[in-house]
Amino acid sequence: MPAHRSKPPRLRREYELVNVCFITAEGDKIPVEAEAGTPLLQLAQGVGMPLEGTCEGQMACSTCHVIIARDWFGKLAPASCDEEDMLDLAAGVTQTSRLSCQIELTDALDGIVIQIPGEFNDMQIG
Ligand code: FES
Repeated sequence: MPAHRSKPPRLRREYELVNVCFITAEGDKIPVEAEAGTPLLQLAQGVGMPLEGTCEGQMACSTCHVIIARDWFGKLAPASCDEEDMLDLAAGVTQTSRLSCQIELTDALDGIVIQIPGEFNDMQIG
């Protein structure tokens, strides 16, 4: 009689993937996925979105400015006062603008839609 074998443990994924859809300034939709925990700016740059991120997340440039789709904006943690101050200096700001260097992708953001603005201000340059 064969020895009783218990079911193998169900393999858990080591990380969750978060689906993100970038919409370029020209209106093209670019669907991508990333591991939860990935900074949005890093993902955007990795797939060729034209976000300079000049200050590398120090909230001193606003070249990482993106526009969050209205349905998704409320699912993000609120912007800090420093982020709000820097957004005031960004070009083409809307009510759902954020600095992508301040957004970390989580499972709750699976499916988020991000518009890439058509104009940028770099506050580190004149
Ligand atoms: Fe400079 Fe985000 S990279 S403010």
